[in-house]
Amino acid sequence: MRILVTAGPTREPLDPVRFLSNRSSGKMGYAIAAAAAARGHDVVLVSGPVALTPPAGVTLRLVETAADMLQAVEAALASCDVLVMAAAVADWRPRQASPRKLKKGGGPPSLDLEPTADILASIRPRKGPRLFVGFAAETHDVLREAQRKLAAKGLDLIVANDVSRADAGFEVDTNQVTLIPAGGDADAWPLLSKAEVATRLVTWIETRRERTAPPGGAQ
Ligand code: CTP
Repeated sequence: MRILVTAGPTREPLDPVRFLSNRSSGKMGYAIAAAAAARGHDVVLVSGPVALTPPAGVTLRLVETAADMLQAVEAALASCDVLVMAAAVADWRPRQASPRKLKKGGGPPSLDLEPTADILASIRPRKGPRLFVGFAAETHDVLREAQRKLAAKGLDLIVANDVSRADAGFEVDTNQVTLIPAGGDADAWPLLSKAEVATRLVTWIETRRERTAPPGGAQ
């Protein structure tokens, strides 16, 4: 399979030295890219800024903002059968980034924000027979919120995790996820290393594609 994986946070600049971002470390997305490459799949990894070594054998596209990530995903999508959106895309960006460093003497700036593009929503019309997998990082109503996003974003599968736990979600090496397939039952996995979650997720994708893939892959 040809698998496109996104990972890490995006950064939305406020001025040349400051940005809005989030706590995503990229570990889950990088583990998925590594597991897919180890299984012999062609992997394109679109990554926001992270402090990780890219897995061997993947094609890496480094991006910074949500707009950059959308562009990189759009460029790679045509030649992919599967998209795994593990990135924590910033939802808002400063309406205008200052070209010059904002100086302390000017007093605290007020942040005028605008929404970034929703990448999954933007590419949904081009989905075709591709398998789309999303992630839902939640702190409350985890399964209900994940179900809502599964339907709203037209996904085949959403991987929900409770990021309020100390041993799951952002920055740590373990994760506890619940898989919710479109039209199927939720499947709660035990607490596992992110590498193990990634291996199991790649197996899940392989099994699903075997059952549903059109001959010759996505067009
Ligand atoms: N996502 C995306 N584009 C965005 C934000 C999120 O494609 N601008 C993707 C994420 O990569 C993830 C899924 O959508 O696979 C859910 O992301 P999440 O941040 O949990 O949800 P949001 O859409 O931001 O919704 P909310 O703010 O209500 O949590």
